[in-house]
This record gives sequence, C-alpha cells and structure tokens, in this order.
Amino acid sequence: MQAQAVAQPNIALIKYWGKRDVQRNLPAVSSLSVTLDTLWTTMSVEFSAAFPDDSLTLNKEPVAKLLPRVSACLDRVAGSERHRARVISECNFPIAAGLASSAASFAALVVAADAAVGGEGDRLTLARAAGHASGSAARSLFGGFVELDAGVGDNDISLSPLADAEHWPMEVVVAITERGKKPVSSGDAMQRSAETSPFYSRWLSDQSVDLDTARDAVKQRDFDKLGEIAEHNCLKMHSVTWTSRPPIVYWNTATVACMQAVRELRGQGAAVFFTIDAGPQVKAVCLPESADRVAEALGNVPGVVQVMRSGLGRGARRLAAA
Ligand code: PMV
Repeated sequence: MQAQAVAQPNIALIKYWGKRDVQRNLPAVSSLSVTLDTLWTTMSVEFSAAFPDDSLTLNKEPVAKLLPRVSACLDRVAGSERHRARVISECNFPIAAGLASSAASFAALVVAADAAVGGEGDRLTLARAAGHASGSAARSLFGGFVELDAGVGDNDISLSPLADAEHWPMEVVVAITERGKKPVSSGDAMQRSAETSPFYSRWLSDQSVDLDTARDAVKQRDFDKLGEIAEHNCLKMHSVTWTSRPPIVYWNTATVACMQAVRELRGQGAAVFFTIDAGPQVKAVCLPESADRVAEALGNVPGVVQVMRSGLGRGARRLAAA
C-alpha cells in the first residue's frame, strides 16, 4: 500500500483570488495557468494498519502544521475508513513563499494516495480532491496551459488543458527575492480581500473578460496579447490585496525593481511579461529566445537572491517504485 508521485507547481496567468464556498474551498473565479517542469515536489504515501497516526515529513523534517490538511485530503482520496498514512515529501524550491509549493504538494499527494490504494481515480476526480485542499493545486494535475472553470452553485470545478508545451514552448524565469514564508497565507488574504476591499466585487465581475482574452491569446499563440492581459490581471489581484483592511502587501523593493526590469527588457525587444502571486517572487514568462537575457537581467537586480528557470511541464504523475 505504498506509492510515489511527482508534481510541478503551476503559475497563474489569470489568477484565482477569492472563494465562493469556503467550506468546500471552491474558487470565486475561474483561472488560467502554466505548469512548470524543473521545480518539483515528490510525495510518497504509505498506508498501514501498523501506523497509529498520519505523519508528514517534508525535506526530512516532520511538519505538524500541514498535517490536518494532508489528512483531510487523504480521506477524500482513500476514504475516511483508510489506514493511517506515512507521507514523505521532497521539494526542490522554497516552500510557502509564493511559489505554488502547496499546488505541487497536493497534486502529487492525490496521485500518490490514489495509486497506493490501487485506485484509478480519473484526472478530474483527483484534481477536485487536490483543489479542495488548495484551490490552485487542481491545475497541477495537468500540463502546459490549463484553464480551471470555477463552476456555479453546487457544481464543483472543471479543468481543460488548453495547450501543451509543444504547442507553444515558453520559459519562466523565477526571480526569488526572499526565501522566507509569506506574512499572510493566501486563504486568509482572500478572505480579508472579500470582506474589506472596495475593489473585490469589480475583480469578480471582470474576470471572465480577462479569461476569454487569455484563452484566445493561447489559442492564437499571441504573446503580446497574453502578456498584456496577464500583467493587468496580476496587478488587479494585487490592487485588491493592497486595498484590503489591514492592507496586504506581498511585494518588496526587489519585486518592484524586477517588474521595472521586465518592462525595460520589453522596451528593448525581449518577449517577456511578469506575474506575481501571494509572495514577493517575480515570475518572468518569456519566449525561449529571450530567456537568457531575461535571466541575466533579473539576476543582476539588487535584492534578487536566486534565479530559477523552467520550461513548461507535464501534469502530476505516479513514479515507478524504486
Ligand atoms: O491555491 P492557493 O490557496 O494557494 O491560492 C493561490 C493563489 C494565487 O497563487 C495567488 C493565484 C493562483 O491562481 O494560483
């Protein structure tokens, strides 16, 4: 009753921000993302009658804080009558720092747990289980460009892979400006945004237009169109957080300097745009021919402590037993 899986984080170009059902963790808006390939999280899940409790080890350290969410997610995949589980995770990038570590973790977890109980959960069912734990995790079940439809009323989310890496190769340069954990979790920040930002209702009502534009841009492989709408959507999400009470500001000085560097590079002809999630890291999305100069320029921005590069990757999948 043991299995291992790997998943990559995904970066939203049209953001999920806000929940329409907090209990079921259903998103208030649809979103569109790209799944990466060189950043990864592995999960090994073993169920045994011999284990007294669930346990979770992340990069060789026990982590109690995440355990309730992990246990609930295991219940959803393997049933609440399941044996207790030993979960061992390895991750090659900073955790809880706005780099979608929870997306990769829960995507890998549902695939490993399903395989460990010999299940053949279809992708959508597993994506929904991952999404209940972390809204963005559902997208990491799929590779390339992925659209998540928020659904309405009692309906759960649904997912559509829009294009894979072969359809439109792209590189993402991640400028890490701080390795520490974010000050406010995305779940708490979304709640505060919904309750206090005067811009929140406008954020909700304009999302479908942004999504339509981005989907068309992916289909037409129109990089400028995709970049314009992705930056706009990102800045709108952050305007909602800035105008919450008390305000939530995820950026630091280097975040702003990276945004400026991206604009300058674009002015010099590079095919690049930025996006930023619930943390201070800047993700510069570029066409492969521009990636070297983008990585070099962002690496030279004061305050950038590391630059990571990735192409687009595949969805979460089971790893063969060692
Ligand atoms: O899935 P969560 O609860 O970690 O929230 C993700 C929120 C953003 O990363 C900021 C946006 C997104 O769509 O991934």
